[in-house]
Amino acid sequence: MTKIAPSILASNFAKLGEEIIDVEKGGADYIHVDVMDGHYVPNISIGPMIVEAIRPVTSLPLDVHLMIENPDHYIEEFAKAGSDIITVHQEACTHLHRTIQLIKSHGLKAGVVINPGTPAEMIKPILEEVDLVLLMTVNPGFGGQSFISSVLPKVRQIADWRRDMGLDFEIEIDGGVNTETAKLCTDAGADVLVAGSAVFKKEDRREAIEAIRNAV
Ligand code: DX5
Ligand code: ZN
Repeated sequence: MTKIAPSILASNFAKLGEEIIDVEKGGADYIHVDVMDGHYVPNISIGPMIVEAIRPVTSLPLDVHLMIENPDHYIEEFAKAGSDIITVHQEACTHLHRTIQLIKSHGLKAGVVINPGTPAEMIKPILEEVDLVLLMTVNPGFGGQSFISSVLPKVRQIADWRRDMGLDFEIEIDGGVNTETAKLCTDAGADVLVAGSAVFKKEDRREAIEAIRNAV
């Protein structure tokens, strides 16, 4: 079954704990945490203190998407704060292999992300090392943007390589996922769908999550 990872970026931060409980009750599989530093992306969001604060609120895996420069400097802190999965941008890592090993050395699952403009070839050499590949279907930095469908062939390419190489990492899609675009992603090979606006901007989160699941 397709996993749904609501992105708390679209939640009401004034009641973040309740928002997370609401989507957990509503059937979410992961809690997606968007970390932005105002350098790698033109927006600032949240840091390890918030991860630590929400850790006791949910038993769901915290899927921490680092949109930051020098991710190596912060991985230990995010690990200690209670992350389960840490995902880093290939474009932000000078020594990607080292960074992936660093995440795994803390006992966490390690993921790699690429932006819409980055070719799949850039992460082919690391596929054997990762637990998750995240493909951006918007340019990172903001929630509520439109899905970039030209990324879909890249999703297929990664899924084909996974099969051909006999690997079992998850393929996650992030950006502009809703009831219209979800099936395009799963047909291309995605296992996990991040959804910010399509879940948190809806009154009934259970209904919103089910609507995305039913659309695939
Ligand atoms: C974008 C973030 C996304 C974003 C998704 O930089 O990585 O996770 O919150 O939001 P929606 O689903 O609204 O496009
Ligand atoms: Zn994200």
